[in-house]
Amino acid sequence: MQLIKKVLALVALLPLTLAAPAEAELATKFESDVRILGTVVITTYSGNACNGSNEQVTVTNGGYRCFPVSNKRSIGISGSGCTVRTWSGGDCRGSSFTATSSGCYSVLYGSVSI
Ligand SMILES: *[C@@H]1O[C@H](CO)[C@@H](O)[C@H](O)[C@H]1NC(C)=O
Repeated sequence: MQLIKKVLALVALLPLTLAAPAEAELATKFESDVRILGTVVITTYSGNACNGSNEQVTVTNGGYRCFPVSNKRSIGISGSGCTVRTWSGGDCRGSSFTATSSGCYSVLYGSVSI
């Protein structure tokens, strides 16, 4: 009788045990989706060849944001998963340039959107 009770308890626990791997898979999928959003490090430079004085901005898994710069003539980008645009105006308006990959871009700009 005691043994039967133990077996019944095991059978009752079985569905819980089977559900666990699916949850783990979901968690993994969620984490990889978050990673797709990406991290980008943006460095703004006063020189036109990613030289001169600079300021660095790091954005991780961010939504849209816009920040103004002054007297910047080039931009260095590293990371992935984000779209980086430079704008002629200080408020992410005017003519824009879209950086498609990591690297240094020589462009005069008044603001950057990510
Ligand atoms: C950056 O490098 C370019 C090309 O070598 C040079 O003409 C310019 O004067 C430099 N700018 C600064 C701010 O160092």
